[in-house]
Amino acid sequence: MSIHRYIKKGSRQTWGTKIGIILAVAGSAIGLGNFLRFPVQAVLNGGGAFLIPYFVALFLVGIPLMWIEWTVGRYGGGFGHGTAPGIFHSMVKKSRFIKYFGVIGIFGPIIIFIYYTYIESWLLGYTFFSLSEKYVSAVKAGEVKDFFFGYVNIENNKYFNGIGIAYFFFLITFALNFIIIYFGIRTGIEKVSKIAVPMLLILGIILMLRVITLGTPDPSKTAWNINNGFGFLWNPDFSKLGDPKVWLSAVGQILFTLSVGIGVILTYASYLKKEDDVVLSGLTSASTNEFVEIILGGSIVIPVAFAFFGPEQIVKITQEGTFGLGLMTMPLIFGKIPLGEIFAFFWFLLLFLAGITSSISLLQPAIAFFEDEFNLSRKKTVLIVGVITFILCQPAIFFMKQGAIDELDFWAANFCLVFFALIETILFAWIFGIDKAWEEIHHGAQMKVPGFYKFIMKYITPLFLFAILAFWFIKEWWGIIIMKNVPTENQGVIIGIRIMLILFFIILAILVKIAWNKKGLIKENVKRMNNR
Ligand code: PFF
Repeated sequence: MSIHRYIKKGSRQTWGTKIGIILAVAGSAIGLGNFLRFPVQAVLNGGGAFLIPYFVALFLVGIPLMWIEWTVGRYGGGFGHGTAPGIFHSMVKKSRFIKYFGVIGIFGPIIIFIYYTYIESWLLGYTFFSLSEKYVSAVKAGEVKDFFFGYVNIENNKYFNGIGIAYFFFLITFALNFIIIYFGIRTGIEKVSKIAVPMLLILGIILMLRVITLGTPDPSKTAWNINNGFGFLWNPDFSKLGDPKVWLSAVGQILFTLSVGIGVILTYASYLKKEDDVVLSGLTSASTNEFVEIILGGSIVIPVAFAFFGPEQIVKITQEGTFGLGLMTMPLIFGKIPLGEIFAFFWFLLLFLAGITSSISLLQPAIAFFEDEFNLSRKKTVLIVGVITFILCQPAIFFMKQGAIDELDFWAANFCLVFFALIETILFAWIFGIDKAWEEIHHGAQMKVPGFYKFIMKYITPLFLFAILAFWFIKEWWGIIIMKNVPTENQGVIIGIRIMLILFFIILAILVKIAWNKKGLIKENVKRMNNR
């Protein structure tokens, strides 16, 4: 292979406009997490008891990490690196190992992508179904659960026979993601985000206004009304603050919803220019996400489900699974209000748009890795990443019933997220050094970060993350490793998935090694030529 391949071809891509990157980061952050995961976490953790740890986690972990990722990403981008291995290496040049920690910043997003995209494809399917006779009749008959189980092939029933239709929508969704990515940062991601994010905001506001005006749906149950639904979420309940599980869920939700702690924002920020602001832009994108999560996400599913099903039933439905509230409860309600089909259509379209602006962000680290570190063309990169992810997606689709999605979600969105967030924080505040870090954050900044965040970033954020990992380690890990809660008949699938994850991680680490070996070779050759 010629040396020339490994010498950078021209400069890297950049964002077109400031609003473009803010909307792209907001688009990554706003996703199924805001509308499906947040209500579930809030209900499972006691409604009003959840929001206090949630806000604490936002200010002590979420916002600092947003700033860290924007800053570190822009810094690494200046050295031509768009993913964690290269970015970390440019921060700590002396270390030979640090780049291997960075592998998580490519691995984690791809693992989330492989199940997230499948779920996103259901929403594309449901957007079409919401206008179809078949679905409307399922809603009328109160059989949305059967409809869903048939669709994802948990069972064969009168609505679906086999997984064909779900697979068809998966293929379309998968292709759409790669088409956008193929168009690159400006003409792909930025353009789509500029259209999809405002659109989903409008849809969300329409749905919220509809919900607020629902009042008391069943006059015989006066306590089941929208106001009390809001009360369920917003009346503070201090009794559960001593329960570490509530704190764990809150931090997990904050990281997931903001898309931080996994390498994605790092990559997006690497396409910034050196003089671009990160402080105000980072804060704006985080605030947009929080508006959507708390105001829109919190005002649709929870109050509606509360008003129609009451305080006990809402908890029961939620305990049955992550998709119960959003996919099965909401449609039932749409069946009971005038113009319900239109609102159902809005709801699923909103979810699909929210999903796709997130899933494209999950792909970009892998794309950036091949482009930056192997100097491959976009076409080749898209092809390589496309083939790999397509293969990796299959278990999530065909073994969903055996718990494949939950297993992938656990390792990527629970473990990797917290672990990688901790690495990033330590690297930034301790190894790079908080004083240098502070200077770097404020380069080109349009706003100053309050001084106490220096203390928070150095001590509180890492301690908080460390405490969570330590708690898990002590309480849950052994049970997870030995699959204590996995039914025996599913253990084969779970082991298979774990092997797949380990192999994939090792392959990525080897690729990092190969990329750096080549870089070493080039340096040596250049030196030799200069000495001649
Ligand atoms: N933030 C997205 C959501 O709330 O649905 C999910 C997500 C996207 C998580 C990108 C992590 C990520 F890197």
